[in-house]
Amino acid sequence: MPLKGIVLAGGTGSRLFPLTMVTSKQLLPVYDKPMIYYPLSVLMQAGIRDILIISTPLDLPRFEMLLGDGSAFGVRLSYAEQKAPNGLAEAFIIGREFLSGSPVAMILGDNIFAGHGLRKRLVEAAGNAEKGRATIFGYYVDDPERFGIVEFDGSGRVVSIEEKPEKPKSNYCVTGLYFYDGNASDMAASLKPSRRGELEITDLNRLYLEKGLLNVEILGQGFTWLDTGTHESLADATLFVKTMETHQHRKIGCLEEIAFINGWISRSELEAVADRLGSSQYGQYLRAVLDGRYIDITRRKP
Ligand code: DAU
Repeated sequence: MPLKGIVLAGGTGSRLFPLTMVTSKQLLPVYDKPMIYYPLSVLMQAGIRDILIISTPLDLPRFEMLLGDGSAFGVRLSYAEQKAPNGLAEAFIIGREFLSGSPVAMILGDNIFAGHGLRKRLVEAAGNAEKGRATIFGYYVDDPERFGIVEFDGSGRVVSIEEKPEKPKSNYCVTGLYFYDGNASDMAASLKPSRRGELEITDLNRLYLEKGLLNVEILGQGFTWLDTGTHESLADATLFVKTMETHQHRKIGCLEEIAFINGWISRSELEAVADRLGSSQYGQYLRAVLDGRYIDITRRKP
């Protein structure tokens, strides 16, 4: 069965007050596009076309207004409410009907991934999920107390995963992107709330680890992962995207471009979006994609 995707974009955003007093964190701008474009683009690069967006009852209509049914970028979007922030693993319970036993990739709506070869790593993780294995991605951080942390033994095998440990056993955090097989909803339903009252994704990962079904893939040199949960990290993300896009002349998280590359939208559909976006820099970029300006000239067919 092909993978389905979930973007979890709820929560109160309280760490970003007053920025998020009247809008959802995942709709805030990260340089030239709304934050949710970045996680959506990751699922699309994994080849996933059926995607459920989960957010609060208050914010969900705004996501729908922005993204519609997804046809502008070649995917099918569904929407579901999370009534209260009961934990990341609740996404699989809310999404049970949508998933109906499919393997799944879930990504947090405030996570940004970038790097050469990302698409290949995502496609591999998707293939593993279809074969019954889970994949999570580890990333070196300086402040491991803030995250889910992976412990490795001397031969690099994963020994444990702990949520926000007081004494972290490594500096490798678990990023907010998770690939699971078709049992994710059942396994999430078997979890008990943690001391902070949440269904923890770390507990779900531990279940897969105990069954010997968990791959931890390190995103090392050449990859950047950013969560945008604080004012500093949000500003960092904006600067990062601006710098990369300016100097590499390619956008990060451009949904229409990815859909076009994937063969999910036609030239004329891309032209229509470019027209709708008018004279914005984003619209001009789409026109440059249409012109083939960014295709490696040495690989261009005569
Ligand atoms: O960012 C990676 C980390 O994300 C992982 O290393 C941790 O293992 C994982 O627990 C999570 O930790 P956070 O402390 O960052 O989780 P937070 O409560 O901030 O939620 C992450 C995002 O998910 C945030 O944008 C809000 C949203 N959210 C959160 C909860 C608890 C929901 O949409 N629903 C929820 O129920």
